[in-house]
Amino acid sequence: MQRTVVLLKPDSIQRGLIGEIIHRFERKGLKLVGLKMMAVSDALLEEHYAHHKDKPFFAGLKKFMSSAPIVCVLLEGKDAVSVVRKMAGLTSGREAELGSIRGDFSMSTSANIIHVSDTEAAAREEETRFFKKDEIFDWESAVAPYLYGEDEK
Ligand code: CMP
Repeated sequence: MQRTVVLLKPDSIQRGLIGEIIHRFERKGLKLVGLKMMAVSDALLEEHYAHHKDKPFFAGLKKFMSSAPIVCVLLEGKDAVSVVRKMAGLTSGREAELGSIRGDFSMSTSANIIHVSDTEAAAREEETRFFKKDEIFDWESAVAPYLYGEDEK
């Protein structure tokens, strides 16, 4: 099974959307294996968004991301990276499909509710960036037989 990271950004917590968003992932059948709230440091933001450091929106992005706590979520499931990307929708809330998280809750490209891992490699990097080993829970799902067929495990 694959793991992927979701960061619920400051606009999620300010707008009281944390429960709604986590609820969507749970109902989909993704397994919650990590969950924590944190104030993200400047150093961590520089590392996480290093590929955006020359973009004109970088300073604003850092300011926004440290304006309130974020909630870090680690999800597990078959093809979790692509499933969660689909559930998030396009980066801009105005362009994201209705029914996706950004499509339903955001009107913005910067205040776009969540960050999700782009690729499997990014998911592995982000898992170690945001979670310590003892913050990841390897628990057995009692409903797994009702979420996947025998050939999908
Ligand atoms: P995220 O998935 O966290 O990855 C980088 C973030 O930069 C993105 O979501 C947005 O919050 C932000 N971002 C991307 N493009 C723009 C843009 N054109 N203007 C402002 N913010 C942006």
